[in-house]
Amino acid sequence: MSKLWGGRFTKKPEEWVDEFNASIPFDQELVLEDLEGSIAHVSMLKKCQILSGKEADQIIQGLEVLYQKAVNQELQYSVEYEDIHLNLEKLLIDEIGEVGGKLHTGRSRNDQIATDMHLFLKRRVKEIISLIDELQEGIILQADNHVETIIPGYTHLQRAQPISFAHHLMCYFWMLQRDKERLKDSLKRIDLSPLGAGALAGTTFPIDRAYSAEQLGFGAYYENSLDAVSDRDFIIEFLSNGALLMTHLSRLAEEFILWSTEEFGFIELDDSFTTGSSIMPQKKNPDMAELVRGKTGRVNGNLISLLTVLKGLPLAYNKDMQEDKEGMFDTVKTVTGSLKIFNGMVRTMKVKEKRMKDAVSNDFSNATELADYLAAKGLPFRQAHEIVGKLVLHCIQEKYYLKDVPLHQYKEYSALIEEDIYSILLPYAAVERRNSYGGTGFQQVRHQIEKGRSLLGEGQLINQ
Ligand code: ARG
Repeated sequence: MSKLWGGRFTKKPEEWVDEFNASIPFDQELVLEDLEGSIAHVSMLKKCQILSGKEADQIIQGLEVLYQKAVNQELQYSVEYEDIHLNLEKLLIDEIGEVGGKLHTGRSRNDQIATDMHLFLKRRVKEIISLIDELQEGIILQADNHVETIIPGYTHLQRAQPISFAHHLMCYFWMLQRDKERLKDSLKRIDLSPLGAGALAGTTFPIDRAYSAEQLGFGAYYENSLDAVSDRDFIIEFLSNGALLMTHLSRLAEEFILWSTEEFGFIELDDSFTTGSSIMPQKKNPDMAELVRGKTGRVNGNLISLLTVLKGLPLAYNKDMQEDKEGMFDTVKTVTGSLKIFNGMVRTMKVKEKRMKDAVSNDFSNATELADYLAAKGLPFRQAHEIVGKLVLHCIQEKYYLKDVPLHQYKEYSALIEEDIYSILLPYAAVERRNSYGGTGFQQVRHQIEKGRSLLGEGQLINQ
């Protein structure tokens, strides 16, 4: 076998050098996109009469045969042919004879690979967007059932103020909403065709870039041929969006892990998303949530890795850029898998309302209620804060909570405190009264859920 670029060489690299050079072990994932790009390119060559109708039809038929074989996973690749492009060109020539050698007229692997990556990412980003939609729907379904379920809200992982569990869940809805908007926005920059940029400078053939871009369903094409073959910022942007999305999921993962401990006991994850221990029969481990938390590391790594590859790289194409692929594939796979896992986990988790209720009944997360009560009666908030602080200290010494302090005792701290304080201190009342826009008050949370539903497009799936 000889290299498709072998003309100016007197000897071939050794096999282990070929192996180091090759991207075929991983870029075969782009096989369908590469074939589609080639079909569009040849259709354009035909339209522009660069190839005869007969030649172009022969090549397109050959490419279609390869496409079917690729779908059936019948293609055999070799590291000697380095990458998906040269492997397919070789397979095409084997399939239809020498005319297959005309496929590469007026293009380069440099615009070809960039085209493949744009096509691939455009599809995957759309899939990821719809997986985010599904997870958001799952969150809304749970939130809708738990508007009046109350949990302690935390700051510094110390109990702070009681909040609606739905409010807590909906916080993730909004993070995901922004992740989705970022991905949607990035589509503008992914939906660009580099095809026809050639190696770096364009081509002498009278090609029609608009036509091939349109054949591939691209909304626009690059204005500058150097930019078209050197740009990987659309991938970096995706890796960054993926890293941020995973960071959000990792926070929810951490909360699920904490909440399903004996110590918290706020939720139970479904058996289908947990695993057992090989030695401790009682264990039910939140492995899937832990894996999402852990996999955030590799997704962050993929971002830093490509940023580092591109840093200081001169124009135009350099082989360094072959290193753009594995991280991108890995982020697509990891983000896709993590979203599916979370969608299942959120929809099937059991919420232990009683544990949540007990948690807020016996703590000091209602201390702000008392301070606000005094401030509403005209006491400067700073003084109210001081009084309540002293009362909390008193309770800790007496081993009871604010709800247990007798009225006469309260009066020793402030004459402003009346009998109505006991109803004010109830966690339910504390949540209900936080009715400022976007607050945890039930009315506000219901409003948020409604808004979320309408953002999901009147959610056909939601109401079932
Ligand atoms: N396998 C190469 C890559 O992924 C394709 C482009 C190669 N171009 C070249 N001139 N060697 O980057």
